[in-house]
Order: sequence, then C-alpha cells, then structure tokens
Amino acid sequence: MPFTANRSYKANPRQLVSASGMHYQSGDGRTILDGTSGLWCSNAGHCRPEITEAIAKAAGTLDFAPTFQLGHPLPFELAQRLAALMPEGLDRIFFTNSGSESVDTALKIAIAVQRSKGQGTRTRLIGRERGYHGTGFGGISVGGIVTNRRTFGGGLPGADHMRHTHDIARNAFSRGFPQCGVELADDLQRLVDLHGADTIAAVIVEPMAGSTGVLVPPTGYLQRLRVICDRHGIILIFDEVITAFGRVGGATAAGQWGVTPDIITMAKGLTNAAVPMGAVAVKRELHDAMIESVPGGIELFHGYTYSGHPLASAAGLATLDLYARDGLFERANELSAYWEDAAHSLKGRRHVIDIRTIGLVAGIELKPRSGAPTARAMELFHACFDNGLLVRATGDIIALSPPLIVAKAEIDEMFGKLGNLLDTIA
Ligand SMILES: Cc1ncc(COP(=O)(O)O)c(C=O)c1O
Repeated sequence: MPFTANRSYKANPRQLVSASGMHYQSGDGRTILDGTSGLWCSNAGHCRPEITEAIAKAAGTLDFAPTFQLGHPLPFELAQRLAALMPEGLDRIFFTNSGSESVDTALKIAIAVQRSKGQGTRTRLIGRERGYHGTGFGGISVGGIVTNRRTFGGGLPGADHMRHTHDIARNAFSRGFPQCGVELADDLQRLVDLHGADTIAAVIVEPMAGSTGVLVPPTGYLQRLRVICDRHGIILIFDEVITAFGRVGGATAAGQWGVTPDIITMAKGLTNAAVPMGAVAVKRELHDAMIESVPGGIELFHGYTYSGHPLASAAGLATLDLYARDGLFERANELSAYWEDAAHSLKGRRHVIDIRTIGLVAGIELKPRSGAPTARAMELFHACFDNGLLVRATGDIIALSPPLIVAKAEIDEMFGKLGNLLDTIA
C-alpha cells in the first residue's frame, strides 16, 4: 500500500466503500465527513452526477484512442479550457496521468527548452527542503523529504535544494502569508553563486507546500524567486498539483497570488479525481522555442499511453464545467475568512503549537510526543476517523482541505470534533 504502515493497517483495516458529496461511507457502515477532499483532490465533492455521467458517456463512445501520432477531440477541447484558466501566456498543455508524471514531464521539458536555446549545460534542477513533488525519480530528487529518496539511491545527480520556509519561532499562528522569511528566497541566489547559473535549468516549488504540512510562503517570497529566476535565465516551475482548482481561492495559486511561473504542474482537482489525470501548462514562448529548434519530426520524445485518455478528458471537461457553473473557486475564496476563524479557534487547545491557514487549507501543528515524533498526529488521525471525520496526518501536523462545497456547519463540525479529540490524545 502507498505510504502506509502495511502491517499496522492490516491489523486494523479502515476502509472506505462509497462516497457522496461531503461524505464517505466506511466499511463498517459509518458516515465520515471528508475534511481532506480525499487526498486534496475531490474539490467538487464526491460522485457528482455531472462528472460520472460524462465518464460513462465517454466510456461508451471512445473507450481509448492512442495519442501518439493520432489525436481525438476531447484532450484538445480540454487543453483549450485549461489554458483559459492559466495565468496569461501559459497556454500550451501536455497531459499526464498523475502529479508525479506532471512533475517529471515539467522537469524534462525545462531541460529540453534550455537545450533548444543553446543552453545545453543547464541540466541542474533545484527544489526545496520539505518540498513534495511525487515519487518519480525526478520528483524525489527535487523533493525535500529524505525518506522518499534515501532508500532509492539518492535521486538524480546534480539536484540541489533551497531551505524550506517553515519558521514557527517567528511566524506561529499566522493567518494567510506569514510576515517573516522573504529573505529565504535568496537561497536561490546562493545556489547560483555556488553552482553557476549556466548549470541550472529550473527551480521547482509548491507555491504552498501541502504534503509536508501546509507551509504558506512568506509575504514576497514567490515574487523574489521570480526576480532571481529572471536575472539568471532559470525556468520557474510552480507545482500546483494541490493548489490549482480552487484550493487557495482561484484557478491557480499563481493567478490568485499574482506571480507567473514559466511552467505549472497540475493533477488531482483537474478531474475531481474521478479519473486519474495530470497536466503541465507551459509558456508559449518556451513551447515555441522547443518546437522550432527541431528541424522536423518528433519534437518531444516523451509521453504516456494514457496521455489525454478519453475518460479522463471527459471527466476534466465536466469538472471544469461544474467548477464554473457553481462558482466553486469564488466560493472557496468567500469561505476562507470563516474557515480561518474556525481553524484558529483551536489556538490554546492541548498540544497545538501552530495553526496555519490560507484559502480552504489549514495546518494544525502539534507538539511532538517526547521520544515518539509523529505518533500524536497519527493517533489523532485514527481517532478522527473512528469518530466520523477524515483528516490528514503528516509528521506532527494535521492538514485539512475540504471539498469546496463544504457548508459552514460542516466547518464547525470539523474543528469542533478536532478540538474535543485533542483533549483525548495523550
Ligand atoms: C505538490 C505535489 N506534487 C506532486 C504530487 C504527486 O502526485 P501523484 O500522487 O498524483 O503522483 C503531489 C501529491 O500529493 C503533490 O502534492
């Protein structure tokens, strides 16, 4: 099982068997309020008929079509729709099947683009400590989580990392962007000085690091990264696998926060997670440089059998329709103040040492149990599940990211339950 203590799971299997709207049903017949949109992905809530019907229709019309040397209409249509949601200029789309594939695709495109501009020495990839970019070799190399890399030989040579931006000493209980830490972006300049800009192809960051515990960027940090990348010809990639599709109140964090990268990776909310799909959006000028550098024939020797799969494309189109029809990104934005107040109401509760919020995301950091780091959050995760609430535990942090259809009463239920259960955990 992925990222699971297999033996412990099998000793007490907790299963989900069906879902609808804001809720799952567990294998033992209980209703579970979904505080995490599954795994940060079912942004419109579960089993929405608009999406499931579109998938069924696609399955009965064109179950599969190769996209190598051939095409079919749905991914082109979806690419157009997606491009319209991206920040201006990022209108060339490549489809994948997951966040990990989107990341590896983006890293490969970045190196290929540099090469096409006569910058073939630029092969180094820069990530950040506590970054999560999936589990491909590219993703674990730029990712900043040692356990994901150590067992597998250490990752790609040449990858390096900026420091993370998490700083409880200065920023505890921030609402939105923390005030302190913009200078951490200068780590990129430090790595340029160390390695030489002519060796660096790209830098990749999550605009908000989700998987390692909701690390919101300090005020001005992303803007400063953009300036340093421009100064040195480094391609800036935002990994928006979590932040895209309404999570922080807009189609992308880039658009919502006003910083335009050169490449954006996506997955998860793209299809509401009903069919696996990822995508990479690339600035047109980068795309054109790469295409035009090849005299003829195949321009990008890369792709997946299921790139632009009909069922995923149909799910993506129906999902984007639903987001637009119900104004779900705007809804997330409007609800964020209520969400923030509810999350921060846990300040002062037992074990809580920090609370971070942005959009419809919250991270609640617990004091690690002496001699047993991560145990407290894992116990709380299990207690929540057993009491009808799905949260996510990462390290000693509880992360919440509900579907964007969440009602205020459900927000109250989530934080009320969490507060009560915190009292029951040693
Ligand atoms: C920022 C980010 N990038 C990449 C991934 C990997 O996505 P997947 O699990 O679909 O491969 C994730 C998954 O959580 C993610 O949060």
